[in-house]
Amino acid sequence: VNHLIGIKYITKQDIDLIFETADHFKEVINRPIKKVPSLRDVTIANIFFENSTRTKLSFELAQKRLSADVMSFSAAQSSVKKGETLIDTVNNILAMKVDMVVMRHSSPGAAHFLSQNIGASVVNAGDGAHEHPTQALLDSFTIREKLGDVGGKKIVIVGDILHSRVALSNIFALQMQGAEVKVCGPKTLIPKYIESLGVTVEHNLRKALEWADVANMLRVQNERLDVSYFPTTREYTQQYGVTKELLDSLNKEIVIMHPGPINRGVEITSDVADSQQSVILEQVENGVAVRMAVIYLLASKIKN
Ligand code: CP
Repeated sequence: VNHLIGIKYITKQDIDLIFETADHFKEVINRPIKKVPSLRDVTIANIFFENSTRTKLSFELAQKRLSADVMSFSAAQSSVKKGETLIDTVNNILAMKVDMVVMRHSSPGAAHFLSQNIGASVVNAGDGAHEHPTQALLDSFTIREKLGDVGGKKIVIVGDILHSRVALSNIFALQMQGAEVKVCGPKTLIPKYIESLGVTVEHNLRKALEWADVANMLRVQNERLDVSYFPTTREYTQQYGVTKELLDSLNKEIVIMHPGPINRGVEITSDVADSQQSVILEQVENGVAVRMAVIYLLASKIKN
């Protein structure tokens, strides 16, 4: 494969190779000199049609640590605002001799569409409610680092599963590595097809946490909700918000994850987000090494 469009399209062997490569790059970026010269002859464009803090900065830093030439593009400040199409935009960028495109877009399937229509490697940095493969990879890499292995672990994904590309990519990645996956949230935020993926559903947060080794807390994506959404934010927090009291009342310590951005006080309280049970900033740290691995492995295929 010359693209990373989704976890659905890769194998357990691909994930193992990405993690072994990321182990090496994590060691590299903790050295006094954090860069390697590997991609001096590679040019990468980061094209973001949706807002991002972590993913955009993490990809940029990963590319710079590999010594690639990097261009970053935000649709909001571009000629997309004058009506230029996706393909015209990307072809104009590619005319500047770009080897790889990292793209975030609000439409599910946008990264796949791009990969079929341009002559460069495409990495999906999130396409609507479809997939966010590098987020799932960095999440699994963090679980592996914290608990030794992903296989055999029980992971509950809590919250807005319906609108979440993070949930879908995590479900594929975790199951591929032999983890058990449960989703937890209100009925209105859990899609009907989810059980067909081999995932169990639990609407009671306490029961879900009592079962789990890891809880991955998702944000309610207010920007993607329609008016039929129920419950209200206050009701959501009462039923699905993780608090320190709730965690302390369990008979074990579970690992708390969140892909960010956090709605503090909604899906997770600050004392949980900032606690030693939380690996939220480790996820961000690991994101750079994992993205270096993904880009390095794809670029090796371009060059050969
Ligand atoms: N986790 C994540 O995708 O965050 P951003 O939207 O800030 O990139």
